Amino acid sequence: MTALPVLITGASGGIGADLARIFAAKGHPLALAARNRTAMESLANELESSGGRKPVIIALDLAIPDAPGLLADALKAEGFEPAILINNAGYGLNGRVSALDSGEQLGIIDLNIRALTALTLKFLPSIEKSHGRILNVASTAAFLPGPGMAIYYASKAYVLSFSQALSQEMEGRNVTVTALCPGPTATGFFDRVGGHTAKLKKFGMMDAMTVAQAGYDGLMAGRRVVVPGMMNKVMTSLMPFVPRKLLLRVMARIQMGK
Ligand SMILES: NC(=O)c1ccc[n+]([C@@H]2O[C@H](COP(=O)([O-])OP(=O)(O)OC[C@H]3O[C@@H](n4cnc5c(N)ncnc54)[C@H](OP(=O)(O)O)[C@@H]3O)[C@@H](O)[C@H]2O)c1
Repeated sequence: MTALPVLITGASGGIGADLARIFAAKGHPLALAARNRTAMESLANELESSGGRKPVIIALDLAIPDAPGLLADALKAEGFEPAILINNAGYGLNGRVSALDSGEQLGIIDLNIRALTALTLKFLPSIEKSHGRILNVASTAAFLPGPGMAIYYASKAYVLSFSQALSQEMEGRNVTVTALCPGPTATGFFDRVGGHTAKLKKFGMMDAMTVAQAGYDGLMAGRRVVVPGMMNKVMTSLMPFVPRKLLLRVMARIQMGK
């Protein structure tokens, strides 16, 4: 069977780069999209020197409103039609909503929600035509409100909800949709997030390759939701039974240092 072409956003580092390594090792043609061209070129060289095909690289800011259109045009010019879409690009910020910069906070919605949704809408026809798949990277943050990272947690709740609903809509139409929900993972994410996140890292930090492999396995098995790691699985399954008042206090203590 021919390996389907894969578009991975946020492939310049972290979980996205490791997903690229896994797909490349399976022989998939790849397109990588993120802002950092140098990092993607170095990954492309690494993949090529390990015997894979050289990926198409598109350097762009996915948070700008016309990014999905620009990305689609750039891929078309390269003759690349995605059959598997990995919506992985995302970021979070730690701090009070009232204290953080508004533009940077709204940027979380532009990237984590708007770009992910717009890319899904843009590429769904080609994915359906090729009997393809979609992997949306959510988070364990999708399962609870997160004072101290309020907009990030809410953005991931959207990703989980949207992915589950779309997977149901696409049932019987040869497209699977999977939400990958990692817990704290050792990547560049924590360099950008700032604030009081040291305590979060104590919650069993996983490595990016283990998370990416769980995402790949779940995607290819057509699973709806993938939570990598035993501790994250237990935590997310207990979450609905914890009173909200207590949960909010605990999360505020962890993420706001109070
Ligand atoms: N690490 C964790 O603890 C954790 C836990 C749960 C979920 N996640 C989720 O996992 C996904 C991947 O994050 P990661 O942990 O691998 O962090 P990361 O190493 O910081 O990777 C984030 C990726 O997103 C890209 N990106 C950020 N802003 C972008 C923009 N405006 N336009 C295009 N690309 C952009 C970055 O590339 P450029 O900077 O080159 O643009 C980078 O490739 C995110 O959705 C994150 O929310 C992470």
